[in-house]
Amino acid sequence: MLRQPGFATRAVHVGQGPDPQTGAVVQPIHLATTFAQEAVGRHRGFEYARTDNPTRRQLEECLASLEGAHHAMAFASGLAATSTVLLLLDPGDHVVFSEDVYGGSFRLFDKVMKRYGLTFTAVDPTDVGAVGGALTPQTKLLWLESPTNPLLRVVDIHSLSDIAHEQHALVCVDSTFATPLLTRPLALGADLVVHSSTKFLGGHSDVLGGVVLTSDDTLAERLRFHQNAVGAVPSPFDCWLLARGLKTLELRVIRQSDSALEVARWLQDHKQVNHVHYPGLAHHPGHQLARKQMNGRFGGIVSFDVHSRGAAEVALRRLKVFTLAESLGAVESLAELPAAMTHASLPAEMRASVGVSETLIRLSIGVEDVGDLIADLEQALPR
Ligand SMILES: Cc1ncc(COP(=O)(O)O)c(C=O)c1O
Repeated sequence: MLRQPGFATRAVHVGQGPDPQTGAVVQPIHLATTFAQEAVGRHRGFEYARTDNPTRRQLEECLASLEGAHHAMAFASGLAATSTVLLLLDPGDHVVFSEDVYGGSFRLFDKVMKRYGLTFTAVDPTDVGAVGGALTPQTKLLWLESPTNPLLRVVDIHSLSDIAHEQHALVCVDSTFATPLLTRPLALGADLVVHSSTKFLGGHSDVLGGVVLTSDDTLAERLRFHQNAVGAVPSPFDCWLLARGLKTLELRVIRQSDSALEVARWLQDHKQVNHVHYPGLAHHPGHQLARKQMNGRFGGIVSFDVHSRGAAEVALRRLKVFTLAESLGAVESLAELPAAMTHASLPAEMRASVGVSETLIRLSIGVEDVGDLIADLEQALPR
């Protein structure tokens, strides 16, 4: 019997085999928006491209295989995927979420979904008691990120899933930072996983996308209904680019994680640096949990505090190999100031209470030579 193919093999082959018509080893992009029917209602599995199309289906098969999920649904962005999960809820339902959630997710909760009758409570996701205390009989969803953006807190998905399930709430994990290589939330008890595939999954800063994954057939059916009914779907070209990105996911994430650990260790010895947030460092409060939950590596994102906002801005201006830009997870290294950029949509008092300070810099480590990355930080952060 053939052995069960490993992650890297599935990333290259699932949904991606040679084209049966031509033998082309790279799948063609199916741009067709409509598909011929042999008779009314008799077709080969595709009718209209918003509902389903061959290029998106191939991508979804690969994503499901990598996450160990029965179902994957691709969307036009991470936030389109997040919105579609929230559409599973009804007016009056309550959502408990991690307080240092990605700023755009908070904006969606606070400025859009509240208008449709959902209520939200932010909690410290590392405080299991606080999460339990925030759940009410109306709570239908616990929304987690792990590691969190931008403070890299590691969240105990297994324990929190048990607590949420006691209250009959679903658990959704935004696993964008971990990627399916480093954490499998469904195996830890979560019901749903979301990724912004704009980040590590695509990996080249050239495609926006999102995905929702689940092994629950009923949830999948409802999500597929909304995927079609709402229509926030990716184009076939974007699906193709994402599928291409997935083929090197393991190579990239291993390289990015190893370099991130080196950068984090270098930063923690630097006089200009007050605190380094990286789950791979022994002093990180989530280090032991990350060792259990994260498959031996800790991801490509590092954040750190410097002494003042001015010092942070000077350092960000001086960087040459790192690009000052939002986003993360791609082959090129990026740096940003979350309080003024990716997390500007969190209210100032919430940023302050959570620890997303004006002096916090977030780095997304790419695949460049790590010596060049450290040399760049050295010249940008003079001692
Ligand atoms: C953790 C996380 N989730 C979701 C999103 C939203 O994804 P997108 O920008 O693809 O809509 C982002 C974007 O930065 C993110 O960092």
